[in-house]
Amino acid sequence: MKIVVTAGPTREHLDPVRFLSNPSTGKMGFAVAAEFARRGHKVTLVAGPVALPTPRGADRIDVVSARDMMRETARAAKGADVLVATAAVADWRPAACAKRKMKKSTMKPVLRLVRNPDVVKSVRGVRIKVGFAAETGDPVREAVRKCREKGLALVVANDVTAPGAGFGTDTNRVVLVRPDGGAERLPLMSKRMVARRIADAALRLAALDGGGGIS
Ligand code: CTP
Repeated sequence: MKIVVTAGPTREHLDPVRFLSNPSTGKMGFAVAAEFARRGHKVTLVAGPVALPTPRGADRIDVVSARDMMRETARAAKGADVLVATAAVADWRPAACAKRKMKKSTMKPVLRLVRNPDVVKSVRGVRIKVGFAAETGDPVREAVRKCREKGLALVVANDVTAPGAGFGTDTNRVVLVRPDGGAERLPLMSKRMVARRIADAALRLAALDGGGGIS
């Protein structure tokens, strides 16, 4: 099958040396891409700025901003079977990006922001979309809302403040949530094992959706 994975943070520059971003390291998304590639699927990994090696067998496209990620993911997703959106996309970007470094002596201490596109919600032409929900507190209710609002067949939800979960860790504790509210709580496990469970669930959904067999 044809699989697209988004991973890592995005950077939203206000000038060439300053940006807004978040602590995502891309580990979860790279593990997902590696797992699908290991199973012989055709994987495109659209990655924000991270310090990780490309998983063997995956095609990698590096991007910086949410708008770059939007463009490259839309291109890669045409005719894809599954999109797994693990990226921590910045929801906002500075309204303007200066071409030259701004000097602190003349910089205003107020930043005007504009909304970024929602990558997973906007992308068309892919059969099954899987998203993530990074929450603080019980994530299931929010995950159901995100499933419905973004047209996702599955949301991998986690409380990023829980021990062993969230940004930069090698483990994660997630709940697999369906649009009808069905939730499967997985125990604390390595991101590699979480990636396996996500691949299993996504491929099952793609097969149920009537696509080609699992290669
Ligand atoms: N996502 C995306 N593009 C965005 C924001 C989020 O593709 N601009 C995707 C993420 O990759 C993830 C899912 O949407 O799969 C949920 O991301 P999250 O940050 O938890 O949710 P938000 O939509 O930003 O919602 P909120 O701020 O209400 O929690």
